[in-house]
Amino acid sequence: MKIALIGDLHGNYVATQALEAELRRHQVDDIYFLGDAVGKGPQNAETCDWVMKHCSLCVGGNWDYGIGGKEFPEDGYFWNQLGPERMEWLRTLPPERDVWISGVHFRLFHGRPVTPLISAQTDKEVFTQAFRPNGEVYTGIIFADSHRPFVRTLNDGYALNTGSVGNSLGVPRAHALIIDGELGCQTDAPMTMTILSVPYDNEAAAELARQDVNLPHRESFITEVLTGVYAR
Ligand SMILES: [Fe+2]
Repeated sequence: MKIALIGDLHGNYVATQALEAELRRHQVDDIYFLGDAVGKGPQNAETCDWVMKHCSLCVGGNWDYGIGGKEFPEDGYFWNQLGPERMEWLRTLPPERDVWISGVHFRLFHGRPVTPLISAQTDKEVFTQAFRPNGEVYTGIIFADSHRPFVRTLNDGYALNTGSVGNSLGVPRAHALIIDGELGCQTDAPMTMTILSVPYDNEAAAELARQDVNLPHRESFITEVLTGVYAR
């Protein structure tokens, strides 16, 4: 069973479509969404609809809750694009899920607001806390939020980051994590964990933002999409 895990699409539908084509080529069986479909980019309704249509398991990210729950008055642009039904869907996403794959019990979450922002360089103690919420002990964690993909092994187990589809930092391509293993299997079995790197038309994505004068923090988004350098 081949599962793609994705996060941080951030309203970049150009990147999302490039990723979709590549996932089809890899013949993945399912797609799991780990938060932040919306915010930052200019095509939030299209991107949100794509997630609702293609992802069988979904958890919410800080941007999904912030926009869906109308937490910040400056997000009116995003509310207008999304409308009440999509915002309700975003607001009521579960914050975390779990899944067994090939004998590893994975906790799936976005990052914030469930944990602090965790990057590859974050201290082991912070990772350990993420493996052990409320008396549970997981043997793997899969999350997004840092906008940079990674695979890290700790004494607690595997720590895997999906990277970002639409707002990658470092290398500005669309990223996803693909796990090929025995889904639902609590007995140890082999599995592969692969980071997918998909080039897309960054200039086309930037141009859509350029043309949309109402997009909040438009220049930051354009710089990040073109260069991968954090600009906010
Ligand atoms: Fe994000």
